[in-house]
Amino acid sequence: MSARGSHKTLLQFQGVHKAFGQRKVLQGLDLEVYEGETFCIMGPSGCGKSVTLRHAIGLMKPDQGVVTVEGHDMSSITKPDLRKLRSRMGYVFQEAALLNWLSAGDNVALPLRETTQMPDLEIVERVRAKLELVRVPDAFDKLPSELSGGMKKRVGLARALITDPEIILYDEPTAGLDPEISSSINHLIRELGERLKVTSLVVTHHIGCIKTVADRVGLLDGGRLHYVSTPTEFLASQEPRLVRFLGDRLD
Ligand SMILES: Nc1ncnc2c1ncn2[C@@H]1O[C@H](COP(=O)(O)OP(=O)(O)O)[C@@H](O)[C@H]1O
Ligand SMILES: [Mg+2]
Repeated sequence: MSARGSHKTLLQFQGVHKAFGQRKVLQGLDLEVYEGETFCIMGPSGCGKSVTLRHAIGLMKPDQGVVTVEGHDMSSITKPDLRKLRSRMGYVFQEAALLNWLSAGDNVALPLRETTQMPDLEIVERVRAKLELVRVPDAFDKLPSELSGGMKKRVGLARALITDPEIILYDEPTAGLDPEISSSINHLIRELGERLKVTSLVVTHHIGCIKTVADRVGLLDGGRLHYVSTPTEFLASQEPRLVRFLGDRLD
C-alpha cells in the first residue's frame, strides 16, 4: 500500500490476454491500481505498455480475461456508461497529439466542447486555469508548432485534466524530452497526483520517472507484470531479469 493510496481498487486487470494475429502481447496480465496511488509500468519497447493503457480506457477489449474500471467490466459496459466513465478519465498520449490547426487553448477546450453544453466563457475560464496549473499560461493563443516539446507535453496534460478526471493514464510522458524537461514533467505529475488526489497509471521506460512519481511499479515482460513493489525495492532488486532490464536504461 502506498502512502497516499487506499486499498480500494479502481482499476483491475485479471488474467488479460491480447494477441494481434500470431503476436501474443498480453499473456495473463494481472494488475491492480488502488485509489489515490500512482502505479508505474516499466518495460521494453513493444512489450505492450500502450496496449495495456488502451484496454484500461476501453479502446481495446481483451481476448480473454477481465478489465474493470471503477467496478465496470470494460467488455460489457454500455456505451452511455463508457462515455460517462471516460469523462472521468484523462489520457496523456505519447506524442502530445495536439491538433496542429488549433491553438493550444482550443486543443485543451476540445473535450468540453465535444462532450458538454458548457457556455464558452466558462470553458475558456477552465482552460486558462488548467494551463496555469501545468504552468504554461502563455500557451493559450499559440499553435502547437510554436511550442517546445516540453510545452506541448504540458498542454497535452492540461487537455487530459480539463474534465477533472479521477483517473489519469500517461503514455511515456517523458519520452523524447531532454533530462531537465523530463524531470520537470515528472515533478508536475507527482504534484498533480498529490494536489488533485487522482489515481494514475503511468507507463514509462525512464527510471527517473518512477523515482519521482511511482508509489508502486512493476515490470511488464512476456505479457505479464513482474516484481511489483515500491520504486526503492524495485530498483534495488537483484532479480537477474530486472537487473538486466534496468542495466540497459541510462537514466
Ligand atoms: N492495433 C494493433 N494492431 C496490431 N498490432 C498491434 C496493435 N497495437 C499494438 N500492436 C503490437 O503490439 C505490440 C505491443 O505494442 P505497444 O503496446 O504499442 O508497445 P509499447 O510497450 O512499446 O507501448 C507491438 O508488437 C505492436 O506492434
Ligand atoms: Mg507505447
